[in-house]
Amino acid sequence: MTHILAIDQGTTSTRAILFDANMAIIGQAQQEFAQHFPKSGWVEHDADDLWGTTVKTCREVLQNAGLSASDVAGIGITNQRETTIVWDKATGHPVYNAIVWQDRRTSDMCETLRAQGHEDTLCQISGLVVDPYFSGTKVSWILDHVQGARARAENGELLFGTVDSFLIWKLTGGASHVTDATNASRTMLYDIHQGAWSAQACAILDVPMAMLPDVKDCAAEFGQTTPDIFGAAIPILGVAGDQQAATIGQACFEPGMMKSTYGTGCFALLNTGQTPVTSQNRLLTTIAYQLDGQPTYALEGSIFVAGAVVQWLRDGLQIIDNARDTQPLAQSSDPSQNVIFVPAFTGLGAPYWAPDCRGAIYGLSRGSGPAEISRAALESVGFQTRDLIEAMQADIGHKADTVLRVDGGMSASNWTMQFLSDILGAPIDRPKVLESTATGAAWLAGMYAGLYPDAKTFAQTWSRDCRFEPVMTSDISDERYASWQRAVRATLSV
Ligand code: G3P
Repeated sequence: MTHILAIDQGTTSTRAILFDANMAIIGQAQQEFAQHFPKSGWVEHDADDLWGTTVKTCREVLQNAGLSASDVAGIGITNQRETTIVWDKATGHPVYNAIVWQDRRTSDMCETLRAQGHEDTLCQISGLVVDPYFSGTKVSWILDHVQGARARAENGELLFGTVDSFLIWKLTGGASHVTDATNASRTMLYDIHQGAWSAQACAILDVPMAMLPDVKDCAAEFGQTTPDIFGAAIPILGVAGDQQAATIGQACFEPGMMKSTYGTGCFALLNTGQTPVTSQNRLLTTIAYQLDGQPTYALEGSIFVAGAVVQWLRDGLQIIDNARDTQPLAQSSDPSQNVIFVPAFTGLGAPYWAPDCRGAIYGLSRGSGPAEISRAALESVGFQTRDLIEAMQADIGHKADTVLRVDGGMSASNWTMQFLSDILGAPIDRPKVLESTATGAAWLAGMYAGLYPDAKTFAQTWSRDCRFEPVMTSDISDERYASWQRAVRATLSV
């Protein structure tokens, strides 16, 4: 048993990645699934698609590598966070589609919670701001809108879980209803200081505690897959939400280290060690990882649209055929134009938390076209990251003393990473292994299985592919950032 199978269940696709005994990737399989947008601001997945693509990609990667389940020492799971599933304990059938983290349908409920004065309490308990992003209000919405669901949940007939929890329940044939501390910390129902579900938060959000999973460390025994799925039982030994898994994969184990992942959205996490730091600047306090019962905390800035803006250029605006066309198009733009794109398709996340605001493009002239809009789209990712980094620096009271580590699909674009370094006025490091998320999940499982080294030794294996240093003068970057801030203020006021 010399391999580890990582499952990365993301927002737009599911991937299975196979690692060998040296933590090298030896195979991967990927499958996209349908996105459902039943109403403006609503985003759903069919939970059975998440399950089906998981089984299919795992089988495919094993088969292509000529391996069987008995070659796998353990499974590590990482997942899109906050996405909420409620299912029938007896049949395993979801009672409603998975409500995706991007979904804004509970923004009125959040408004009511704020008006009732619950914001400070929920923030103190969970480390989060009151926003539809998190699972708590989504669970409550399902219980209120599916006939009979609330009574059945109170009777213990329905279970709630984030995607990791649902997949583990299915993989173990219903034997394990569990999650890990990082995923729990994204629900708004979990007390990140006590390390337990909060009766007070559950009462405020009207979520019966009977439906909540047991919470474990990130490296632990989560259960065994039933033999019929892969031909033999495989233990599930590692679980972390995808942004936390990327923090681990980037070896950000020391306080002060930070990473930023550019996937569908962008999520920057700053390790703050064993003390949770309460943000004064509307960032989130979250659990970065929990090992041997000890949580390590992070400050997180969450941006809802990063790579998704490129998807929109391709599928919505249809000015590119392929995501990789964006960079050359942006490079061909007229540098004298100052087009600013605020991609608030599903509202704005940190530090604005404006669920009902929508996107806008400013500074268009007769000469503006696809090139200028593409450049503005890529630049929006840099501007939003600067919003987060400024908030983090204000919270910790000084400039971070380590270099930001980047990963995720968009980090492959040199032009975008150079702009990021320019607008931050700081160097950024891109690692050789860009698969930080899967690596983090694999390391958790492999370390628990005794196959992979401890955190310190693993951290020494991290290596840099490229460092981007700022070349823009601070006058220009500050001026451009000021334009962005004006554009955001205008968008928020519409
Ligand atoms: O919090 C949402 C996040 O986990 C989604 O990640 O990789 O799908 O952008 P991603």
